[in-house]
Amino acid sequence: MIRQLPRISRASVAPVKHVQRQTVPVFRARFASSSSSSTASSSSSQRTSLVVAVAAAAGIALTYKSFMPSIKADEGALSSKTDKYPGTKQPSGQKLISFEEVQKHTKRDDCWVIIDGKIYDVTDFLDNHPGGAEIILANAGKDATKIFKPLHPPDALETLDESQHLGPVDPLTVPEPEDEEPTEEEISIEEARKTLPPVDSMLLVNDFEDWAEKVLSGTAWNYYKSAADREITAGENQDAFKRYYFRPRILRDATHGSIDTEFVGMKTNLPIFISPAAMAKLGHPLGEVNLTKGAGKCGIVQGISINASCSLDEIMAAREKGQQVMFQIYLNKDRKASEALLHKVTELGASAIIFTVDTAWRSKRTRDVRAKVAVAPPPSSEGQEKSKAPLGVSQAISGYQDTNLTWNDIGFIRKHTNLPIIVKGIQSMEDAELCAEHGVEGIILSNHGGRQCDFAPAPIDLLYEMRINKPELFTKLDVMMDGGIRSGADVVKALALGARAVGLGRSFLYANGTHGEDGVIRLCEILAEEIQNTMRNIGANNISDLKPELVGPAGPWVYGNAPPWGGKNKA
Ligand code: LAC
Repeated sequence: MIRQLPRISRASVAPVKHVQRQTVPVFRARFASSSSSSTASSSSSQRTSLVVAVAAAAGIALTYKSFMPSIKADEGALSSKTDKYPGTKQPSGQKLISFEEVQKHTKRDDCWVIIDGKIYDVTDFLDNHPGGAEIILANAGKDATKIFKPLHPPDALETLDESQHLGPVDPLTVPEPEDEEPTEEEISIEEARKTLPPVDSMLLVNDFEDWAEKVLSGTAWNYYKSAADREITAGENQDAFKRYYFRPRILRDATHGSIDTEFVGMKTNLPIFISPAAMAKLGHPLGEVNLTKGAGKCGIVQGISINASCSLDEIMAAREKGQQVMFQIYLNKDRKASEALLHKVTELGASAIIFTVDTAWRSKRTRDVRAKVAVAPPPSSEGQEKSKAPLGVSQAISGYQDTNLTWNDIGFIRKHTNLPIIVKGIQSMEDAELCAEHGVEGIILSNHGGRQCDFAPAPIDLLYEMRINKPELFTKLDVMMDGGIRSGADVVKALALGARAVGLGRSFLYANGTHGEDGVIRLCEILAEEIQNTMRNIGANNISDLKPELVGPAGPWVYGNAPPWGGKNKA
């Protein structure tokens, strides 16, 4: 099985430029060396939309504890009580508040929490918490650091009014945390991690997913993997690639070539990008920053999710010089917040805005919701609100999203940024055409990884449909796709049909979850090798050699089943 994967020969790996991986042999060492310094200084708009509030997804404390053994190395150094909350030096004039006092504020109309040694009055925030009040109330009067930190960007608390920042807790009054027994899940993850093969043993894109299922927490796995309803579209996105085969050409000198390309004005060493996907910290404590660093080393473009679990400032600061990133936005019910966010990402130097439009309404992410049922928050104590059914991570982070989107919103985005606009979530060729009419620079054919509308079509099928029926569209805007890409061959098929680049979301989250930044780099290496091998074996040395004629529906190519370039048997 995967454990015994043969080591890939470096010589056979297509050159991924600028890769300077420093292999750290012990996985934990990588985690232990983690430190996500906050450079929080974001605008209130961004903070509003980035208050991901996923603590509502109960089970988060448990999730993060799966990393605790590795993180404890850091915490262990903070042995004395006064050291326990670094960065909470008593600001002049601000009184220390005793833990006993904090414990009194546990009601809906009077609710305090401690995070990183600081006390916050979150009473007024309860109703605005996208994840619902319940999870906050369950932690009222307590130190909520462990449940809060893994899933909120460090600047999330800046949304609170200054008067709600009550000051530091008196560390001398805080009881020593009890040594908690590891849970069954923690033990099993710990065991599974011992058997995790080194990153270079990962040979196929899906190897990361196979291992992620074993080593990620239930919360992370179920959130990443989850899709809408019966998950038909999620499966179909991948299966649809089996309907397209190559029509390889021979006797073309394959000695030289390159897989560099460009889309929407952004250069990339491989024709892939990281599709914006939320909550990378669920899989690894360093979260999206690993994706940024890995993307930088491999020379690919990262799409940053508006629901990233690291702050935008942290992610942007992790870029290499000149590294290009795209920022994905959901428009906020509070358009002023979106406006400020667009200004901020433009100023910070993003290269494009991805406007996600395939989440018009909520969806039931079945396994995410089921996972929450398994780890429901504790029953409310006296005086607190009655416990409601818990939310999935997905629902918990989407409370701010507007459902009132129209074509006019492209104009709204245009008004607040001069960056190219890429509309993500095109599911019909009619809408692709409308995007061209609205003058956007790019579109991503996507059904949100099958997470929104079950039975939405597979993007590779839509790409084929567009190629056959609307070939002129490919000259009007850059067409990209994501959904179901699990190999270099998939990438090459999409490119031959006209995609400028393709995105992978889940696979990067899995690779980050199993091996952190090294996993991200390894995933690029795997794809680079497969893309290059496939291209050269079908007679294409450069991306510009990839033409529709190199692909067709799975054979036999007889009447009704042949592409227009299919030769004599064409219908
Ligand atoms: C999701 C949202 C965050 O798919 O885009 O979970």
